[in-house]
Amino acid sequence: MKKRTLMILKALLIGLLMVATILATVYLGIDSPVPWLLGFLVVALSAYNKLCDKHKYISWKQEYSVGIKSIDNEHQKLLGLINRFLTASREHPSTFYEQEALEELIDYTRYHFKHEEELMEKHDYPDLEAHKKEHRKMVKRVNELVEEYNLRGQEALEDTAGYLKHWLINHIRVVDQQYSDYMHKRGVH
Ligand SMILES: [Fe+2]
Ligand SMILES: [Fe+2]
Repeated sequence: MKKRTLMILKALLIGLLMVATILATVYLGIDSPVPWLLGFLVVALSAYNKLCDKHKYISWKQEYSVGIKSIDNEHQKLLGLINRFLTASREHPSTFYEQEALEELIDYTRYHFKHEEELMEKHDYPDLEAHKKEHRKMVKRVNELVEEYNLRGQEALEDTAGYLKHWLINHIRVVDQQYSDYMHKRGVH
């Protein structure tokens, strides 16, 4: 079953349970355990849904910091754009929102890579080429995912969002962290 269908079914179930709670209160009265039980189910199911959604989004953690203000700001903006893309792909059944969010994310990723590479070049970072290679690999994979999205539409979005989320977190935590000490020694903060 597609994730979006599952989401609609869950929302429908919560809606039905809410109506059942109101009807049970009207017809059975507040003294009956039935409206209380139904009310509890509505609250529990809504809380469970919220919890599931929360895990799908990324929030900034101090451990992601590379200790360079401008780069941290850009990484934070990238995480925000990924969350926006996740929201667009999950909650707005319109290609306009999805495409707009995806394009903004790709454009900003390119801008960030360029800035990061210029900074490394300026300070003669010894692993610049290996780092650039990682960036190029990501751009290539994203282009492939965009092509897939153009062919398969909404279905390909989960893969794209998942790839971007995991790649970016991993890149920030492992690869970007590698230049942190070097840059600090050069006085870049
Ligand atoms: Fe990087
Ligand atoms: Fe980066």
